[in-house]
Amino acid sequence: MRELLTKLEQATALDRAGDRLQRAVLDTLRSQRVKDLLHGVWLGHPLHPAMVQVPVGAWISAAVVDLLPGQRRAATALVGVGTLSALPAAVAGLNDWAALSRDQRRVGLVHAAANLAGVALYAGSLAARLAGRHGTGRRLAFLGLSAASAGAYLGGHLAYKQGAQVSQSISELHRMSDGWHPVGDLTELPQRQLVTREIDDVSVILYRHGDDVTVMLERCPHQSGPLGEGEVQEIDGHACVVCPWHGSAFRLNGGEVVHGPSGNDQVILPTRIVDGRLEARLP
Ligand code: FES
Repeated sequence: MRELLTKLEQATALDRAGDRLQRAVLDTLRSQRVKDLLHGVWLGHPLHPAMVQVPVGAWISAAVVDLLPGQRRAATALVGVGTLSALPAAVAGLNDWAALSRDQRRVGLVHAAANLAGVALYAGSLAARLAGRHGTGRRLAFLGLSAASAGAYLGGHLAYKQGAQVSQSISELHRMSDGWHPVGDLTELPQRQLVTREIDDVSVILYRHGDDVTVMLERCPHQSGPLGEGEVQEIDGHACVVCPWHGSAFRLNGGEVVHGPSGNDQVILPTRIVDGRLEARLP
């Protein structure tokens, strides 16, 4: 299975279809507001994994209910809820998928295809049940669950092996030792400019506003882009750093993500001033 997944990550034959789908998704989902909503910016976490709980839960419940006698109406209702709720979850997934790296998009494409097959089988199951053909509905539902389970397996690979939509910056904290670390003299820090420093080989960015200084991890939570090379922009009245790679924006006075594709906030380190020297530590 591992070999198969590695081959899938390297399957350039998928790129033509993947590139076309990516263009179609980017052309369709143009509104930044809609994209942020679907990325889960408002939640501070990617939305797609939360949304898939509804169809997966409903479909598994339908499979259990299908094994019990006299539960046809309950099973039909659960299949209906699962099938309808899969559609917004798929849109959120496609929105995330379009901003992934190429190897992640290859696996994501097969993940989406397996889930699409699952939704089609469940839609057929629902239609059969509503027409009174409950035996056919049950068989199609079990096939649908198999396809959706294959999709879920690939989704797990995407998240846990390939790190898709998982915060890429959080592991930096594990390389930083406890205690306060000197970062520089306050007087040497320019006002309202990004400055890059290192703490225990971990790159951080400093942003001074008056006597307040933000110390933020430099590695972008989305795909490790260098925030120190990004721009500072005023967004909704807050100074934000905008990632130079895909445009995710994070508030410099709190680290909250304000624009995706990152669905995760950025880490800010607590600071103090001792004898004019700025110090920072792990949160
Ligand atoms: S690396 Fe993608 S937005 Fe920063």
